[in-house]
Amino acid sequence: MKILEPTEEHVREAAEALLGGKLVGLPTETVYGIAAHAFDEAAVRRTFEIKERPPNNPLIVHLAGVDQVPEVAAEWPSFAATLADRFWPGPLTLVVPKAPKVPMAVTGGLDTVAVRVPLHPVAQLLLSVSRVPLSAPSANRFMGLSPTRAEHLDPSIADALFCILDGGPCEYGIESTVVDCSGPTPHILRPGGISRAQIERCLGPLESPTNSSKRRSPGQYERHYAPRAAVRIVEKLGPDDCGICLSEPVSDEQIQLPADPGKYASRLYEALRTLDLKRHPQILIEAPPDAPEWEAVWDRLRKASG
Ligand code: TXA
Ligand code: MG
Repeated sequence: MKILEPTEEHVREAAEALLGGKLVGLPTETVYGIAAHAFDEAAVRRTFEIKERPPNNPLIVHLAGVDQVPEVAAEWPSFAATLADRFWPGPLTLVVPKAPKVPMAVTGGLDTVAVRVPLHPVAQLLLSVSRVPLSAPSANRFMGLSPTRAEHLDPSIADALFCILDGGPCEYGIESTVVDCSGPTPHILRPGGISRAQIERCLGPLESPTNSSKRRSPGQYERHYAPRAAVRIVEKLGPDDCGICLSEPVSDEQIQLPADPGKYASRLYEALRTLDLKRHPQILIEAPPDAPEWEAVWDRLRKASG
């Protein structure tokens, strides 16, 4: 596993490797990704292979800035522009009609493309040095936990990469919010780093999708983001349980996470990973509050528990 300090020289080497068709472990503010030159179809296909991801589950294209949007998008609806202006760079992905230049391999055969401008300084540097859009799914194996530190990448993925740029622990710890901007009104396809309330403060209340306007995100499965152990959500951990609690832990088999949803999210995958390594058959999670600001955390907990 080749984990490199993100010096200017290493970032330049990584950019050259990407332009030469290789894959690079990319730190972002949400989770680590597997970056490829988005217009290099062979490199994109290899991304799917090493993740063992079905080819119809599209990738997010990462851009250095909003000025790169015309390279990948055929249209830029006004609400996409408003959201990008407010939240980029940051953990928000916008789905818009794709430009012909984006290979169908990236979009899983769809005529739309998901784009985002990441906030992490190492991601920004790599994007500006390589000067091409980079496709990057989370760097987990299909259905596994997304890595939030360089050393958390599965060796089978890490070994297939030119290198992993070490950007330290990810600030948000869960993936970006995905908003479908390809229809007449915007809809959240995946809750994430930017909350529904933040988006509604910017655009006004979101309409709930009607059946005809509802486009499903092909990457949304009932079970996802899951450790090896079975995950169950409970009201309170018992003294002998292995799991995640909000209250004081009573053993080394329990990890307490903060009562703030953002801080909780930033440590969730790491906590699940740590508990999974203990090889208990079951991980129990104390239910966080049933409140709107916990929507993204609840989404991941439901998907971890299948
Ligand atoms: O935070 C993130 O978004 C991370 C970092 C690395 O940027 N990336 C990430 O990528 O989570 P991935 O591939 O694990 O998740 C991409 C999500 C999937 O749910 C996929 O279905 C959705 O975005 N998506 C991508 N393109 C889409 C499209 N054209 N239409 C609808 N959904 C799309
Ligand atoms: Mg993922």
